[in-house]
Amino acid sequence: MQTLTTTSLQIRDNQLWILDQQALPQQKNWCPTPDAATLVEHIKALRVRGAPLIGLSASLLLALLAEQGMTQPELAQALELLRASRPTAVNLMNNLDRMKRALAAPQYASAMAEEALRLVAEDRALCDSIARAGSALITPGSRLLTHCNTGGLATAGVGTALGVIAAGWQQGKVQNVWVDETRPLLQGGRLTAWELSELGIPCRLICDSMAAALMAQKQVDAVWVGADRIAANGDVANKIGTYSLAVLARYHDVPFYVAAPHTTLDSDCPNGAAIPIEQRAAAEITGVAGSFGAVQWAPQDIDVWNPAFDVTPAPLISGWVLDSGVVTPEQVQAGIFQPASR
Ligand code: MRU
Repeated sequence: MQTLTTTSLQIRDNQLWILDQQALPQQKNWCPTPDAATLVEHIKALRVRGAPLIGLSASLLLALLAEQGMTQPELAQALELLRASRPTAVNLMNNLDRMKRALAAPQYASAMAEEALRLVAEDRALCDSIARAGSALITPGSRLLTHCNTGGLATAGVGTALGVIAAGWQQGKVQNVWVDETRPLLQGGRLTAWELSELGIPCRLICDSMAAALMAQKQVDAVWVGADRIAANGDVANKIGTYSLAVLARYHDVPFYVAAPHTTLDSDCPNGAAIPIEQRAAAEITGVAGSFGAVQWAPQDIDVWNPAFDVTPAPLISGWVLDSGVVTPEQVQAGIFQPASR
């Protein structure tokens, strides 16, 4: 397969390499990913993360395995293993459905390589379209707040919400970006803060619990977040903490925008209550792990609730910015995300 480089994925020497997003920004470790079991481990550990990137990494790996001579039944098994790696981001399921169709072709190895590369190219283009549509909503002098990481690390392109913010900055309209640290795994404090700094965009890091005080002081002009799944009624699953930001934004009269490609839309899912929410290990909130070493501060056997995502109800959302353009609350209420309108 041809060589390929995105911010956090590479294909070289006929192998998939992933940039370990748990070690960033302190260390830039590229990890080999020779088989489905290894990729599942990387995905579960969030070394590979972000809704679009999970789907792309799984698709590229399957294409490489096909090229290396794996049989159709073996590939079908690997595909289902990857599908079960994380439940919430629907991009993974959408990409794997397309790879499954390619797997059924007589020349399945070349069909899968073409499809995986097409998915990467499409994702890049989707990010550009989202950035174009979203940046038109940014007003000059904006102080924007974002949560989790939605940048080049999480996609094959410029990102979703962070791509919008970067485009707004390039257009001279962004004064400052407030970066929620995003407990418990700190995708904001580690990844978004790093990406914005690399891009030269002025940003300030806050703890998640500081957003209310910041909005009360009228220091936030809009909130921009990504999505892991958008239901047919417009409800949005995204990183835990997103819902609280939406509630705060409504109380303080701050617009709250969701940016995502159409591959994040799940019209078959009627509402947020039907979105499967991943539960994660207690150790993620009883202390810290990763490149800092492991420190536990909570009592040894404390009971823990640790959902990776929450659901923001559609009525709290000011606009859904997709690659096709800005979708308004009125359009969502009229059923634009419903199966019949697709
Ligand atoms: O658990 P993560 O880090 O994979 O969660 C990621 C998010 O919630 C992102 O906001 C979402 O996937 C959009 S990425 C463009």
